[in-house]
Order: sequence, then C-alpha cells, then structure tokens
Amino acid sequence: MKFAQFLLKNSSVAGIPKQVERFAKFSPSPLSMKQFIDFGSANACEKTSFVFLRQELPVRLANIMKEIDFLPDKLLSTPSLKLLISWYSQSLLEIVDFLEKNPDDKEVLTKFTQTLVNVRNRHNDVVPTMAQGVVEYKDAFGVDPVTNQNVQYFLDRFYMSRISTRMLMNQHTLIFEGSVNLSLNPAHPKHIGSIDPSCDVVEVIKDAYETSKMLCEQYYLTSPDMEIIEVNSKNPNQPLHIVYVPSHLYHMLFELFKNAMRATVETHETSITLPPIKVRVSLGTEDLTIKMSDKGGGVPLRKIERLFSYMYSTAPSPVHEDNSRNAPLAGFGYGLPISRLYAKYFQGDLQLYSMEGYGTSAVIYLKALSSESVERLPVFNKSALRHYQTSIEADDWCMPSKDPKQLGNSKRIV
Ligand SMILES: Nc1ncnc2c1ncn2[C@@H]1O[C@H](COP(=O)(O)OP(=O)(O)OP(=O)(O)O)[C@@H](O)[C@H]1O
Ligand SMILES: [Mg+2]
Repeated sequence: MKFAQFLLKNSSVAGIPKQVERFAKFSPSPLSMKQFIDFGSANACEKTSFVFLRQELPVRLANIMKEIDFLPDKLLSTPSLKLLISWYSQSLLEIVDFLEKNPDDKEVLTKFTQTLVNVRNRHNDVVPTMAQGVVEYKDAFGVDPVTNQNVQYFLDRFYMSRISTRMLMNQHTLIFEGSVNLSLNPAHPKHIGSIDPSCDVVEVIKDAYETSKMLCEQYYLTSPDMEIIEVNSKNPNQPLHIVYVPSHLYHMLFELFKNAMRATVETHETSITLPPIKVRVSLGTEDLTIKMSDKGGGVPLRKIERLFSYMYSTAPSPVHEDNSRNAPLAGFGYGLPISRLYAKYFQGDLQLYSMEGYGTSAVIYLKALSSESVERLPVFNKSALRHYQTSIEADDWCMPSKDPKQLGNSKRIV
C-alpha cells in the first residue's frame, strides 16, 4: 500500500499502518447535539469523555487516513501531502498511547487534555497545507475531470472529518481543561463547550456582517447595507434561537457576506448607491433557513458547480503574494465549499441560486431541532472505495457538437 510504504520508510512512525488498519475497522460514531450537551452539562464526566475519545478519535483519524491512500500518486508525493500525513500519523500514535492508561488516574486525564491541545495545534494549518498540495499538483499536471471528481470527493470527506475531530477535541478541552467547574466558559457562561444551547441567529448574522463590512470598507472604501427580515413561525415575534455552534454559523455567514459584498461593490462600481444585501431568516418546524440575496450580477448556471470545487477554484495562497494587491475578500476559493461542509456537518446544507445579470441568493439550511442535528461523518468502506476507482468512460449523455450538422445538406447525411 502506498501509505504503508511511505510510512514504513519512516521508522519513527513504523507502528502506524497497523494502527490505521486496526482502527479503520470500526465505523465512526456520530454524536447528536443532545449527546454533546449531555457530555458537557451538569453530569459532565471527564473520565467518560476520555474513554470515549481515546477510541473515537483514532477511529475517525484512521478512517480518513485509509482514504488518503487512494489519492493520485502525484498528489501524495507533494511535500505538502507528506507533511500532512506525518501530522496525522503522529497524532494517531499520541492518542492511541492512552488506550492502555488508567482512566481513574487524574494525571492521565490531565495529560490527555494536553495531548488534545497539542494535536489541535499541530493540525491548525491542515486546510492551507492541503490546498497548497492541490496547487502544486495542478501547476505540474493540470486538472482533468476524473482527478477533479476524486479530489472533490476526498476533500469533502477529509475536511468534514477534520471539522468533526476538532469539534470533539474542542468540547473536551473547553469543558475539562484545568478547571473544576467544568462546562462554564467565562466569556459565555451558558455555552456548553463551543455549543450555544440558545444561539441567537440574528445576532450572529449581525456580527458576521459587521466584520465583513469592515474588511470591505478597508479595501473598497464603501460597503452595502444589510436588511434583515425574521420569520418565527413557531413563536411569532420571538427571537430566533437554535441549539448550534455559533462559531460554525459565523464562519458560513462571514464567507457569504464577503462574497456578496465583493460582488455587489464590483458590479456597481460606477453607481452612487449600492443595493443592500437582504437576509431573510425563517424558523419552521424542521428547518432554520437563512437566505442571503445580493444584486451583485450573479453567476451563470454552468459555473455554479465549479464554485464549490477545490481543484478548479484553488488559487495560490494570498499570504505568499504581495500584500498590497490582495483583495481581502477573496482567498483560496475555499469559502463556499468549506462553508457547505459546516452546514452539512449537523445535517444542514448550503446552496446557491443565481440569476446571471442580476444577483445571487445563498441559502443556509440548518436543523431546527437539536434532536435532528447529528454529526454527518465519512466512513471508509467499499462504497467509498468505489468512488476512487472511477475511470475515464464515455459520457452516457450525448455531447452537443460544437459544429452542428447541417441537416438540410443531403450530401452530408449520406
Ligand atoms: N454572491 C456572489 N455573487 C457573484 N459571484 C460569487 C458570489 N459568491 C461567490 N461567487 C463567485 O464564486 C467564487 C468562489 O467563492 P468562494 O467564496 O468559494 O471563494 P473566494 O471568494 O474566491 O475566496 P475565499 O476562499 O476567500 O472565499 C468567487 O471567487 C466568486 O467568483
Ligand atoms: Mg469567498
């Protein structure tokens, strides 16, 4: 196996392929928002959380490490991918080390929390490093539809896995790190780890708008206003609250605002006034829906899917370029695909509807009920494997010819 071969060459992580095989045999166990809250509220038990995580984190890491193996060789051999694999291997070993340790030993629990902090820090730059690997691959070999499809499939799962492992590690460290009183976060006493059991959606929208507006004004010296309309069908005239991770919601909204502002300002460069960005929020029995509409000129339908593609939209990291020429509102081109993953992580979604020549609406769907907000996790199995075995086949839909046949010309038909 490629992954195994690479690791076996590196003696310090020689135990890795065995551990990957061992833990990839298990499927990850998705947690519901309710379970996250139970883990962290009054009956929070560090020992229970420790016993769960020392098994679950290796399972999630090993499942995704199995898939790394199926990436194109040329991508795997980039320095960025090698670095990434070494981070994953090291972290897997560090956590597996706790399997034999005594959960009743306070020192073990403290060391475990510290290890999670180290692992989290080690993986801080996973997204730009992976993006860099994709850029290196693209520069050297170009993009073809099959590679794009495989990489897209893999990266959606890889980044989703990362969102989930960070969520688990954040919950444990926020709740248990060094304090006797567990779930209390001084800045947000009602939060349970990173979850707000009563997340005020409109407040998060306003925060994200303000930050994006600041960036927009720094760069363009102007910014569009925002109009919010709220509909609470459950409790009319009451604020819209859901159980959610505010930082995830903020991330999605901030990305959407940056895109909407940039499109609005650039499309209306010569106008005196800018059309506002309109946000509608609606809480129903099943969904909490946020729709953000701009009049930023829109995107043709043909291009919509590409906006979510990691391969087609990856630009070199803005950090490496001359700062003065950078638009702060646009970076890697990962804004939309990663935001969609955040939405999907708790069974929601993010979709774009655009009218070319007019504007775009981006819609975030979240589950209104915490009982339905359950982690969506990749699992490595035969169905996953099949996705990496796609080969170039003839399309099963006719391709329109660029040079249409002249059906009236009898000579040609013969
Ligand atoms: N509301 C919008 N109106 C018009 N074009 C849009 C809109 N939203 C996104 N786009 C187009 O989609 C592209 C991809 O958006 P995405 O947010 O994923 O990446 P980005 O904005 O280029 O970079 P970043 O990683 O900083 O977000 C944008 O570059 C832009 O061309
Ligand atoms: Mg963006």
